[in-house]
Amino acid sequence: MITVSYEPKPGGLGAVINGVDLAQPLDEKTISDIKQIFWEFHLIIFKNQKITPDQQIRFGKYFGPVVKHPYIKGLEGYPEMMVVEKTDTDKHNFAGAWHTDTSYQEVPALASALHARQIPPSNLGNTLFCNLVAAYEALSRPLQDFLMRLSAIHSFTGRSMTGREQDLGYGQLAKNKTEDIKVSQPVVRRHPMSLKHSLYVNPMFTESLPTLTSDESDLILDYLFQHSTKSEFVFRLCWEPNDLVMWDNRCVTHARTDFPHVERRLLQRTTLVGTEAPQ
Ligand code: SIN
Repeated sequence: MITVSYEPKPGGLGAVINGVDLAQPLDEKTISDIKQIFWEFHLIIFKNQKITPDQQIRFGKYFGPVVKHPYIKGLEGYPEMMVVEKTDTDKHNFAGAWHTDTSYQEVPALASALHARQIPPSNLGNTLFCNLVAAYEALSRPLQDFLMRLSAIHSFTGRSMTGREQDLGYGQLAKNKTEDIKVSQPVVRRHPMSLKHSLYVNPMFTESLPTLTSDESDLILDYLFQHSTKSEFVFRLCWEPNDLVMWDNRCVTHARTDFPHVERRLLQRTTLVGTEAPQ
């Protein structure tokens, strides 16, 4: 039997899980131990996992069905495996702004997992993760109460595509896109397992707070974006080859940092289907 041990990251977001080889099928007890750590720390990291797409997909399925991205074409033969790649000649990049995966869907993704296949030699192109439970809990009670009563409109294009046309992948997506999905989501959501509240707005996909004037909406969203991404809520992952990271999209938002354009970066992502609309 596998013995799972873990090392929590400072700040309560993330833990490195040791003793597990994801190239092998996992037994029930190991899966249950990993799930406990995941629910507690919202983000789990497995180091040095030399895994195939099938093995990454199998790991995702321990948590629920793995889905293909609504817009992005998957890896050849693996529609549910999204490729996050910048070649050394691409001028633009992907997913540089803070976002919560598919928050523009009525039932957004439950979790996502990225596996690092090639990282830039500069060691840049890190991924930042933000703990939206901690960000919510740091707000004053009157502001929490006010936000609790608000909904936000999320869409694929968000407040503006400006800047993102330059974002490799998103520029393509915008061209391919035939419809712009818009959904209303609560500004504060409750995690169905921990029952903790978290902020649920992100600069990439949140458009407006429709019950406010547009000035008020912009001002409050700007404040929430700036507040929720303060350094005290953020964990920075400096990738090493074959790291696998899975995060809970219900209470974690993420963004990639820049790296030199001449460098190549390649990760593969699996996304788990959501189980319920945010509430
Ligand atoms: C993603 O948003 O799935 C990709 C993040 C990254 O490239 O670091």
